[in-house]
Amino acid sequence: MRSMETDRMDDALEGLDESGMRTHVERFPQYLAESAHLANRVPDPSGCDGVVVAGMGGSGIGAEVMKNLCRESLDVPVIPVHDYSIPRFVDEDYFFVAVSYSGNTEETISAFREARERGCETLAITSGGKLAAEEPEHVVEVPDGIPPRAALPQLLSPLVGVANRLGADYDLEAVAASLDDPRDRALGFARELEGSVPLIYGYGDLSPAAYRWKCQFNENAKTHAFWNYFPELTHNEVEGWPSADGFSCVLLRSDDGRQEERVGAAKEAALPEGSTLEASFEPGLGGVLSAIHLGDWVSLYLAALRGVDPTPVSTIEGIKELLS
Ligand code: PA5
Repeated sequence: MRSMETDRMDDALEGLDESGMRTHVERFPQYLAESAHLANRVPDPSGCDGVVVAGMGGSGIGAEVMKNLCRESLDVPVIPVHDYSIPRFVDEDYFFVAVSYSGNTEETISAFREARERGCETLAITSGGKLAAEEPEHVVEVPDGIPPRAALPQLLSPLVGVANRLGADYDLEAVAASLDDPRDRALGFARELEGSVPLIYGYGDLSPAAYRWKCQFNENAKTHAFWNYFPELTHNEVEGWPSADGFSCVLLRSDDGRQEERVGAAKEAALPEGSTLEASFEPGLGGVLSAIHLGDWVSLYLAALRGVDPTPVSTIEGIKELLS
């Protein structure tokens, strides 16, 4: 049962949300369950030296999720690429996945072409565009008409399928069923964060969730946000904290012994009292997606509090247009 305040905020959001981002975020668990079968549509990359996953923005976050998870579950690396070119060491023994919702993102297409030239086996995950046209053999087509960042479940499922074929054992349907409705909590976060610049911190499996929160704050709420991860931030960023007026901090935590002790030490040594929000999650795929789902809602409520429509990303589109 949601609070009346959350229902009122949902109504306020509806007035701004002309393209229906709220519906997509609400359907995140449903999208995940419905797209679970896409995990079975991927070729078998067994025997590869590693998996390179190229994608930008909303299409690139899945690579980060899988890189972190697969450090524990696979014997080969998952290597995200958010750029035009792939690392020099990538040869025909690597499996290459291009993820672009539109299928027209030039960096992803450039990386994809380079992987083909190197002789990699390739897979495209897309709703169409040039990418689908260039890769007729291995394509997982996802439904069109969704903003790329809201199609994370559809874009992620085939990546999970690749990991499962390489020996992991992720159950997308079980994860989808475990996701709860985080709206009341999300509204509390949004109210606390309104008017400050959020610094979002995670560690381990949750680092990509911290990155996703930042990206969703940028794109949905049209506001600055920054992210970092433990333990690294305790060797640099903490020195900026004593003069951190105007910033707030979100800690995405999970039960990871030594990291937790480090978070506690950082709080005691550096984080200003009262400016830190926290949320805890299980480790693993369920935890990172639960953290992402919460952050997606927080970004929508921040959009509502700021009076902006969450869907349009006119600056991103404008840059693409200038370069086309
Ligand atoms: O969320 C968005 O709209 C962007 O971050 C896009 O995902 C990004 O520009 C890349 O485009 P595409 O997802 O079509 O490859």
